[in-house]
Amino acid sequence: MKFLFINGVNLNMTGIREKGVYGLQTLEEINAEIAARFSGDECEFYQSNSEGDICSKLHAASCDGIILNAGAYTHYSYAIRDAIASISIPVVEVHMSNVHSREEFRRTSVISPVCKGVIAGFGKNSYILAAESFKL
Ligand code: DQA
Repeated sequence: MKFLFINGVNLNMTGIREKGVYGLQTLEEINAEIAARFSGDECEFYQSNSEGDICSKLHAASCDGIILNAGAYTHYSYAIRDAIASISIPVVEVHMSNVHSREEFRRTSVISPVCKGVIAGFGKNSYILAAESFKL
């Protein structure tokens, strides 16, 4: 299968910021583990802090499944929500942390209604579980 992993705003700081929440590994290290785990599949990794660039990446996507951690954009980006709704490739929403056990604002996701499913709270394994879900 061909997967596109998209990480949004501030996810480039993984391994540097809030280590107690997001862990010690960098996004590059996590991506390398995912690529090794799915070595029989094609994995593309993309990260951007720009809402518009994430929308453009979604528009241009050509793959079997998209794994999207939109970061804080999850909670308020109608632009990313509409970009997901404008494509036919299924998108699984991912969060490393359990967003429901944190601040109130993290319990709202404006993208969930247009995603195939949501996986949250399993650290880097959230990405792996999301990709595995496309194989069920
Ligand atoms: C996050 C959760 C979001 O609330 C937060 O803004 C992030 C990361 C997660 O992976 O747990 O940046 O999406």
